[in-house]
Amino acid sequence: MKKIKAAIIGFGIGQKHFEAIHNFKNSQVQIICEKNLTKLVALKKKFPNIKITDNEKDIFSNKDINLVSIASYDDDHYHQVLQSIKYKKNIIVEKPMCLTEKELRHIKKLILNSKLKITSNLVLRVNNLFMNIKKKIDNDKIFYIEADYIWGRKEKLFGWRSKIKNYSLILGAGIHVIDLVMWLLKKRPISVFAFANDIATTKSIFKKKSMALIVLEFPGNIIAKITANGAAIHQHFHELKIFTKNKTITNSLNGSFTFTKNNSKINKYDYPDKTNRKKLIQNFLESIIDHKKKHIISHKDQFDLMSVCFAAEKSIKINKKIKIKYF
Ligand SMILES: NC(=O)c1ccc[n+]([C@@H]2O[C@H](COP(=O)([O-])OP(=O)(O)OC[C@H]3O[C@@H](n4cnc5c(N)ncnc54)[C@H](O)[C@@H]3O)[C@@H](O)[C@H]2O)c1
Repeated sequence: MKKIKAAIIGFGIGQKHFEAIHNFKNSQVQIICEKNLTKLVALKKKFPNIKITDNEKDIFSNKDINLVSIASYDDDHYHQVLQSIKYKKNIIVEKPMCLTEKELRHIKKLILNSKLKITSNLVLRVNNLFMNIKKKIDNDKIFYIEADYIWGRKEKLFGWRSKIKNYSLILGAGIHVIDLVMWLLKKRPISVFAFANDIATTKSIFKKKSMALIVLEFPGNIIAKITANGAAIHQHFHELKIFTKNKTITNSLNGSFTFTKNNSKINKYDYPDKTNRKKLIQNFLESIIDHKKKHIISHKDQFDLMSVCFAAEKSIKINKKIKIKYF
């Protein structure tokens, strides 16, 4: 494939997809689908040379489009992924790729039987700070990790996230730090025990759990404690502590530090790192154009990650530690 001809569905975070794709090397966004009429009018004015529509069929029926970037609400993703596969279009899909195990199994089967590529927008993997931390711990003997996704945007739970049927804080938010931990360890967990509550949102229109604690056991007895905290009054933050035999690396509001036996040092990396965000999508575009180029997140990584999230949800429901089944 020589040229990416893309379409975007949903123009919230989808705007970031647009900025990453449009005019990157040979890539062009040719269609934007947005169902909010006010936004639709504004988009038509802003992009007179791009087809703006509220009907996704305009994308799937267009033979030229070879990439669909899905940034709609979580409960639309599955169906839009299936349509993209049916009409032979590569896929960028916002996390989560789908909302049930059955849907995941179906997508996996279809993707593996096609030549198409799919990626989820797990942006922490291209964050400068976390990339540098990964290099620092590459050969270290890690025994424990803590990772907290402190969303700090509680009001977001009261919009479309309150209305959709299967919204999950683990699939919608915790997924970022679960991926971060699996990527840092280069391992997938064996079992999970998770707990959740809704204390901070009980009287609101959001009827799901708004805080979750997830304990993962990895091969070699490594333990990770992860939180998906949708309720915190806090700035948006990814707090991290990695304990190895010889050092500890942390990212907190005070900065990022490396502690060794004899001293502690502050790490000088940008955080939050907005500049690198485009890299994940742009690396995916390159991997579509050049099949030899590997994408930052393999298909296997994405399906394994979703399996861990579903297992964590199940553990909350049955209040038991469970062995993770990988599809
Ligand atoms: N990777 C990340 O860091 C990250 C960050 C934020 C949101 N997200 C994900 O992105 C998705 C969208 O979230 P958001 O924050 O942009 O929401 P948003 O409400 O800010 O924007 C969504 C936009 O998509 C439009 N839309 C929704 N469904 C549509 C459909 N079927 N067809 C056309 N337009 C549609 C809405 O009208 C709205 O304008 C969610 O799945 C969310 O989980 C990911």
